[in-house]
Amino acid sequence: MAHGLWQHLLHLGLLATHWPTSASQPTAAQGASRRNLIFMISDGFGQASEGLARAYMEEQTSPQGQHSWASLLDDMLVGTTRTRSANTWVTDSAAGATAFACGRKSPNGAIGVAHEGAACATVLEAAKMAGYATGLVTTARITHATPAAFAAHARDRDMEDLIARQMLRLMPEGSPGNHSVDLMFGGGRCHFLPQGNADSCRMDGEDLWQQAEARGVKTLTTRQQFDALAADAAQAEQLPLLGLFAKSHLAYSIDRDASQPTLSEMASKALALLNHTNSSSPSSSSSATRGFFLMIEGARIDMAAHDNDPAAHLHEILEYWRTVRVVRDFVEQNPEDTLLVSTSDHETGGLTLGRDPEYLWHPQVLHPVSRSAERICGELRQTDEDALAHNVRHMVLPKHMGVGNATEAEVAAVVRAAAEEQRKCRRMVGEVVSARARLGWTTGGHTGADVGLYAFGSGSDRLHGCVDNTQVGRFLAEYLGVDGSMDELTRALAHVVTEQPGFERTVDRRMHVH
Ligand SMILES: *[C@@H]1O[C@H](CO)[C@@H](O)[C@H](O)[C@H]1NC(C)=O
Ligand SMILES: *[C@@H]1O[C@H](CO)[C@@H](O)[C@H](O)[C@H]1NC(C)=O
Ligand SMILES: *[C@@H]1O[C@H](CO)[C@@H](O)[C@H](O)[C@H]1NC(C)=O
Ligand SMILES: *[C@@H]1O[C@H](CO)[C@@H](O)[C@H](O)[C@H]1NC(C)=O
Ligand SMILES: [Zn+2]
Repeated sequence: MAHGLWQHLLHLGLLATHWPTSASQPTAAQGASRRNLIFMISDGFGQASEGLARAYMEEQTSPQGQHSWASLLDDMLVGTTRTRSANTWVTDSAAGATAFACGRKSPNGAIGVAHEGAACATVLEAAKMAGYATGLVTTARITHATPAAFAAHARDRDMEDLIARQMLRLMPEGSPGNHSVDLMFGGGRCHFLPQGNADSCRMDGEDLWQQAEARGVKTLTTRQQFDALAADAAQAEQLPLLGLFAKSHLAYSIDRDASQPTLSEMASKALALLNHTNSSSPSSSSSATRGFFLMIEGARIDMAAHDNDPAAHLHEILEYWRTVRVVRDFVEQNPEDTLLVSTSDHETGGLTLGRDPEYLWHPQVLHPVSRSAERICGELRQTDEDALAHNVRHMVLPKHMGVGNATEAEVAAVVRAAAEEQRKCRRMVGEVVSARARLGWTTGGHTGADVGLYAFGSGSDRLHGCVDNTQVGRFLAEYLGVDGSMDELTRALAHVVTEQPGFERTVDRRMHVH
């Protein structure tokens, strides 16, 4: 049976031309009981981020004088995660996610590649091989670094055309192929559409979307289609499923309308579908289902922190908390065999709660902010120069940022930044709110600070203390009983092509923005 799996992978074009002899095939999970693992990644969420959202909620909801408000995550804290990558104390999301996925250190920028450009087997791939159903849910492009590192192997995170193909197991040789990830929800349709399509961002004419459909992958792009799935959730097989609800990233929570599903809605649907549906891996047809592995990423917590935008950061965290609630409820209904682990790949922004000279900060300043800096600055770009100052003074500051008594200096600073460059504009909008709230940021990038580690459910007692990100990754594989097959699978992946033809690196990997 396991032999069939290797052969299957070979057909996907993913493996080298040989596969291990039957004596060395992965057997770790055989005979194991059903297990479900939900691994949640709050991208760019440091311990100050948790403190920020907690203080905000305490002020909003607790009577004066009561200071014991705690989040659901606070309740599940088991330790901290160290985050460095192979080549620097400050990781990016590619190396951070690869540490979780492969249980190995890798250099910044590499996706599912441990060293010298060679692919490393991921816990998702090993789980799939062992008969688990698998899913990836994110608010970013599905081809973005974090989800990509679980199901693709690329030397550079920006090779998203290659990554999209790999995530669908559509290899260049045009092998018969089949999907590897049973369910993907998020944004990032653009890398699946051919050049020429208005929504495409591919460098070539490949229509991966159409190819996926032709192979029986059910595709979704709209809220209506997503909701219709709910009605069928109790019905039989709906997997494999590819639901991408935006051309690029999904909207920030603070900006969103109802046209896109939220992270918590996607998580809820994913849990229902994966729990109900047996793995579609050919090997599992003869054995009882083994359960599932689901990775859920709160991706834009990080992006808001890159902009030093505290209100957008807060609302991404609140939605992540709602998602934790959904997953925890699921674990409580399946306490024997289900585990939730939540951690971050790194801290972003160097966020601090307090700023010279006073001992205080003001959570309530974030309350009236109703748009992200990204959206504000995107709209200001459309404004002609004459109207800019008027717009900033009478619309943006009072109506969108909740600043009714803006100073001339604040108006001038935002106008100047908006006239210059988007990134500067976003940082300045964030700074006006942060200065008033007395929040500090040290960088528009990542930091090397440790992050919180949270767990709930069966086996959560085995994860505690200050652990390295690679130990978290190895723990995930052990929980699913696939740790014994990872090295073997890595050897089998040795010849996976991790280069994208014609790709030119355009950024310095030591200073990449995510
Ligand atoms: C998940 O599936 C298992 C096994 O079929 C079932 O016992 C359990 O009730 C399901 N849980 C939920 C929350 O649907
Ligand atoms: C993909 O795998 C499923 C399950 O084994 C199978 O039913 C389907 O026919 C396969 N599709 C292709 C195109 O091989
Ligand atoms: C999953 O597989 C088991 C064993 O083959 C079968 O009894 C069960 O009905 C399947 N469940 C679904 C939802 O297909
Ligand atoms: C603006 O108003 C707020 C709340 O009324 C006040 O705390 C703050 O000091 C004022 N800021 C300026 C610059 O006037
Ligand atoms: Zn980042």
